Amino acid sequence: MKSIMEAYDVRYSYPGTQAEALQGLTMSLPEGKKTAICGHNGSGKSTLFLHAVGIHRPASGRMHWKGAPMSYRADDLKKLRQQVGLVFQDPEQQLILSTPYEDISYGLRNAGVPEHEMIRRIQHILGTMGLEHLANTPIHHLSLGQKKRVALAGVMVLEPELLLLDEPTAYLDRSSEQRLVEELDRIHAQGTTVVMATHDMNLAYAWADWVLVMDKGKCLLEGTPFEVFEQEDLILSLGLEPPLLLQVWSSLPEHVRAESFPPRSMAELKELMKQL
Ligand SMILES: Nc1ncnc2c1ncn2[C@@H]1O[C@H](COP(=O)(O)OP(=O)(O)O)[C@@H](O)[C@H]1O
Ligand SMILES: [Mg+2]
Repeated sequence: MKSIMEAYDVRYSYPGTQAEALQGLTMSLPEGKKTAICGHNGSGKSTLFLHAVGIHRPASGRMHWKGAPMSYRADDLKKLRQQVGLVFQDPEQQLILSTPYEDISYGLRNAGVPEHEMIRRIQHILGTMGLEHLANTPIHHLSLGQKKRVALAGVMVLEPELLLLDEPTAYLDRSSEQRLVEELDRIHAQGTTVVMATHDMNLAYAWADWVLVMDKGKCLLEGTPFEVFEQEDLILSLGLEPPLLLQVWSSLPEHVRAESFPPRSMAELKELMKQL
């Protein structure tokens, strides 16, 4: 499996703290996949993302982008950030201008995209994200879910090759979460590598095709969702909740499980239940 970004034995402490936020983190993000990075609060997911866009720099160890060590020169970082887009957990940290239209144009203008191309891309992304009617609404009038979509649009419009989302569904209601996941799947289908940090194991299991589990600034586990989450004891010992669908599946009679695959959705589970 080809990877697009790697961390090798990365150590990092925040200024003024003793404990290391990353404690020798080694991991790789597979190119073209949908990866979920799981881990409870404080396991280092956000710190990893900040390394991925070069906002933080390893105290020791290395980050690689497309097989080469990351360069921290200002012009290289600018280039990197056009290829790697990070959507922060809190949209307030991301949205700086007063309307969605202005905010989404900002990154494009910064990247030196010509005016006519800029207008074309903004119209397209507003449509994709269902934000046309909100384009000129003051951002402080938007709901949190709408702000999250604006923040995502502002990153997506730059057409990154690697899209990183930090807890994108935190504080979203079910229908906003559903819509966000559909948008991510559409983006992924267009060829973008998508990586989401989450502590929602149900979402990670249902959505991802590759899963990393972090704990105490390290990557402890990686694999397909089933490979990772079938290690129930380990998952529990890390303070994580095994996905509900798998919990139900593992309580089904042996003969049903022997002849089926673990369900990835409620609909698949219901099909299995019919065989009981
Ligand atoms: N700005 C900060 N200053 C000091 N310590 C921080 C800061 N941000 C995160 N940390 C610490 O770094 C560790 C990893 O945090 P973080 O990367 O935010 O984890 P996660 O995103 O998995 O919740 C935690 O121990 C956290 O307290
Ligand atoms: Mg975090």
